[in-house]
Amino acid sequence: MRILVISPNDAFRQPAQAACLRFTESLVSLRLADSLGQGLELAHQFEAEVVIVDLTRNVEAGLIAIGDLAAAKMTRLVVASIDKSTTDLMTRAIRAGAGEFIAQPPQEDEIHAVLRKAQRMLSPVEMPENRRGRIVVAFSSKGGVGKTTLTCNLALLLAQKYGAGRVALIDANTQAPNVAPMLDLRPERWLRDAVEEYRRLDGEMLSQIMTPHPSGLMVLAHSADNPLGLDFDEDQLSKILLVAKANFDFVLVDTFPLLSSLNLALLDLSDQIMLVTEAVVPALRSARYNLQVLRQAGYGPGRILLVLNRFTRFRGNVPVELAQETLDWPIETVLPYDVHATIAANNGKGIVEMFPDSKLSQQIVELGGLISGESATTSRPRASLGERLMVFLRGY
Ligand SMILES: Nc1ncnc2c1ncn2[C@@H]1O[C@H](COP(=O)(O)OP(=O)(O)O)[C@@H](O)[C@H]1O
Ligand SMILES: [Mg+2]
Repeated sequence: MRILVISPNDAFRQPAQAACLRFTESLVSLRLADSLGQGLELAHQFEAEVVIVDLTRNVEAGLIAIGDLAAAKMTRLVVASIDKSTTDLMTRAIRAGAGEFIAQPPQEDEIHAVLRKAQRMLSPVEMPENRRGRIVVAFSSKGGVGKTTLTCNLALLLAQKYGAGRVALIDANTQAPNVAPMLDLRPERWLRDAVEEYRRLDGEMLSQIMTPHPSGLMVLAHSADNPLGLDFDEDQLSKILLVAKANFDFVLVDTFPLLSSLNLALLDLSDQIMLVTEAVVPALRSARYNLQVLRQAGYGPGRILLVLNRFTRFRGNVPVELAQETLDWPIETVLPYDVHATIAANNGKGIVEMFPDSKLSQQIVELGGLISGESATTSRPRASLGERLMVFLRGY
């Protein structure tokens, strides 16, 4: 890693230099400059990858220099160091292009953390090439609408149908994971083990970290004891999803209900987004907003499968037609409210295993057909919402 330290102050340059030279996780090549002019020149000649700029003396010129450095392609990370960290100055430095800050005087552990970040930026994770399976991500930015229930049941169904080792279920609900209890699993290894190893993760390693379910489904569970939510980043989960995609026919992913950059990265990798909502005003509002964002991201109806779950008919409830109108998006499936879902969850079983004849299980089977792409291959065209509603209402 080529590092440049720019500071007029010896008391800054020296500890910064010592800290950089003691960084053992990468080969370090270091240059020092005592003026901004010399620094800019050196950054260019030396093709510096990390530039640490001491902003104490000449703030305005320093900000301009940060702007120049950040705009130059070779410099991947510009680190600003300010003695009085006022939010105003920090905001201006970020706007100029600073990606990190360090305090004054420079601390070794802080510099090492920054260099580690630069290292991650400099060596992008190698993503597996061999793309095989389908990634289906269940999403809604509202909790309690049935994402976990549906991902678990769809995964079970697909595993029953396609056989052992062909379907993966990943609990990417980073904050409140509950796939393991839902399926009565007691994993010994967890998502965080895959995250720790993500750089060298391959199919074999991933399978060893996963927990097999008696149905043949392979589950990458996440632990509620130590959700580590904030420690996950997009690269890590993307790599895990892609390794799973390269090694399974179907990869179902459960998520935390939040329109976060992490979830957007997962949605971006998906072949299909299952947007789950219910016919209750707050859930519909949130789904409507999600759909607007996803539409702006360029996802169309082929990619987003809208599921209206837990539907019941009673006076005062929102009828399906109104839900569809509010959402301004085709509702693909209407799933009935069914207490068997709760009974099955309480038993650590899928409703499709415990109550395969229930109306809800039958509807989930249909949804499974849509997700596996099987329905699309039948000669029968997809029924209109009206027809599907009639089927739903007849059976209700
Ligand atoms: N179709 C359904 N009918 C009745 N209860 C359901 C149905 N789908 C889900 N549930 C119940 O709703 C609750 C929330 O479901 P869950 O899958 O945990 O939602 P999410 O993952 O979106 O937070 C659970 O108690 C679950 O058993
Ligand atoms: Mg959930």
